Amino acid sequence: MNEHERMYHLLKDLTEACGVSGFEDEVRQVIVEKLKEYSDEVRIDPFGNVIAVIKGENKDFKVMLAAHMDEIGLMVTHIEKNGFIRFTTVGGVNALTLIGQRVVIQTRKGKIKGVIGMKPPHLMTPEEAKKVPEIKNLFIDVGASNRSEVEKLGIRVGDVVVIDRDIARLGNGKIVTGRAFDDRAGVAVMIDAMMRVYGKEPSCTVYAVATVQEEVGCRGARVVAFRINPTMAIAIDVTAANDVAGVSEHEYVTRLGAGPAIKIMDNVRGGFLGLIAHPKVRELLIRVAEEEKIPYQLEVLVGGSTDASTIHLVREGVPSGVISIPTRYVHSSTEVISLDDAVNAAKLIAATINKVKPEDLKF
Ligand code: CO
Ligand code: ZN
Repeated sequence: MNEHERMYHLLKDLTEACGVSGFEDEVRQVIVEKLKEYSDEVRIDPFGNVIAVIKGENKDFKVMLAAHMDEIGLMVTHIEKNGFIRFTTVGGVNALTLIGQRVVIQTRKGKIKGVIGMKPPHLMTPEEAKKVPEIKNLFIDVGASNRSEVEKLGIRVGDVVVIDRDIARLGNGKIVTGRAFDDRAGVAVMIDAMMRVYGKEPSCTVYAVATVQEEVGCRGARVVAFRINPTMAIAIDVTAANDVAGVSEHEYVTRLGAGPAIKIMDNVRGGFLGLIAHPKVRELLIRVAEEEKIPYQLEVLVGGSTDASTIHLVREGVPSGVISIPTRYVHSSTEVISLDDAVNAAKLIAATINKVKPEDLKF
């Protein structure tokens, strides 16, 4: 299997599993199974983060990789007498992305299908029809005619919901689309990088962490970084590829297929969740990309952030950077990435692990 096919199948297996923030059990199982093959040890911390270790020559020179396993989703808040289900969002879900969707509700009795319903457009006043839909006006229809039928399906308040969408290939087959590429694409890249490094005895010790609860404030990353106390950290996440119809070039951030992005800064507006990449980590990543002739882009992202936003502020501070996978339509069920970018991201991470020396981080 070539490296693109390997990446596609990793991403397929990872996106077939569900893992809304705080409810990551299913995807965690898949990740543990895959990481076991390419690491010396895999464990799960008390918070639910998966930590896979490749022991290097120097056990105190710790390079932490972080890719979040959780995804945005919905949560059941109320079951109405007539059998319709009200919900809220977990993470940054835009109501526009929900219209016309099938969903899967994860219940204690298994997965139940439903559809997102709304007041029929024919019944809307012209005023209402012009408005952007609001979450509070949407509901889930599972085909039940009353509350007790819904309850018999196993559905209860607090169950999480994802959009029902399979991975698919577009164009030449190297462009793929699906749900939860944010951040299963990052997890796939991290696992692929571990495959490339395992058995090669790096000088640093590698901690590949699949984190929980990123989409609600990078919470898993924060506690696991304290536990590991890394010398350096690299988050692997998606970033905006706004290179689409109707957007001016200066707002692209990144382009699909032009290589993984090396983050300079995100959440430009400031505030708690944001990162200015550590200058030494940023320069290391750029140097390795150039030496290895791996295409890359430089990224300044206006909104949004990654696990590195909490990791870099743990303890006395952790030199942190980010490798991003350019992604169109982030936080929708039609996210699009290029397998070229994902493969190149894995190569860049593996090469960085093989080359990094403690001196690289010194001012
Ligand atoms: Co996200
Ligand atoms: Zn993400």
